[in-house]
Amino acid sequence: MPQSTPLFSAESYFSTQLPPSSLEHDIAGVKEFVRRQKEERRTVVLVTSGGTTVPLELNVVRFLDNFSAGTRGATSAEYFLKAGYAVIFMHRQFSLQPFSRHYSHSTNPFLDFLEIERGTDQLSPVASDSSPESSRICVTPSKRKHLLEILTAYKAVYAAGTLHTLTFVTVNDYLWLLRAVSQELSVLRRKAMYYLAAAVSDFFLPRQKMSEHKIQSGKGSLHIEMDQVPKILKPMVDDWTGKDGFIVSFKLETDPALLVPKAQTSLQRYGHQVVIGNDLNRRKFEVVFISRKEALTFASEGTSVESTPPYAEFWLKIDPHDPSKEIEEDIVAELVKRHEVWIAGAEAPIN
Ligand code: PMT
Repeated sequence: MPQSTPLFSAESYFSTQLPPSSLEHDIAGVKEFVRRQKEERRTVVLVTSGGTTVPLELNVVRFLDNFSAGTRGATSAEYFLKAGYAVIFMHRQFSLQPFSRHYSHSTNPFLDFLEIERGTDQLSPVASDSSPESSRICVTPSKRKHLLEILTAYKAVYAAGTLHTLTFVTVNDYLWLLRAVSQELSVLRRKAMYYLAAAVSDFFLPRQKMSEHKIQSGKGSLHIEMDQVPKILKPMVDDWTGKDGFIVSFKLETDPALLVPKAQTSLQRYGHQVVIGNDLNRRKFEVVFISRKEALTFASEGTSVESTPPYAEFWLKIDPHDPSKEIEEDIVAELVKRHEVWIAGAEAPIN
């Protein structure tokens, strides 16, 4: 089909689409967070998580959504915190978050494991006293150990001030935030990692083409021509992070045969450090790391195979039947090792 409008470059995108109204406020918070982590000499990771939406109207009633519950991002953020990183967690509003993800309202609602212990009414000892003052809320004994572990880690992270949370909804929010956060984080040079697990829309409607009001259904079928979302990994690598950031992107495919070639193409095109390929149906127990061979200077545990030069292909697999194991633990451990090598390879010392 002929292209009716020229492709958006990242530059033309940002000069024609408006920033979200909260951007300035959000970035002031990020600046302060990064300043503090730099002072405390921590490594910082930006984790993006959840799917972006594409609104079809300015007064939005309808939108297209991208698949992602935010499990990968929220789980990985927890393991990065455990590994001593400070985390900027940029996620789709209402998607899963570190720590609270264990008590998702649909799979493990917290009200189901709270119990009420009522006091006894002094005037009438047989009747139980239901006043808030004499009632206690307790956790079901079988759930206490797990909750205590999560709560302890959560409180420690908040006391240390190592988690900063940002939200996006639309692909426009995401792109503006990603650029601004990356630029702020670039002051940490090689000590910053960018872990792009969000599922980002490939097509969008520029605001100039959007209907102001709700699209009416009386005219029969709906035809919308969308523009391509600019590929932002290239400017992110070259400009926003000054080629210093350790950038990890994800590639989601449904055809297993496409996973490795598509991940290699992405690496070749954008020149970042790692692409993690995941198959939609196997992503919870199997992923593949694709990186340039010369960048892999140590032997990792697992199966490392030489793929078409100059790429290395490294598969991480866990037992799909073991519910106590999360693949993100191994993904993060592997990335932490590679990031250390990246930091050590800096030409000038990093503070
Ligand atoms: O949250 P879960 O339900 O656990 O699911 C996790 C996941 C399967 C969504 C996740 O593991 C994953 O694969 N995320 C990336 C999916 C994707 O949209 O890939 P992509 O081919 O559109 O993008 C490739 C990479 O470039 C991504 O890291 C994306 O964040 C980034 N990108 C893409 C386009 C664009 N304009 N900007 C980007 O930053």
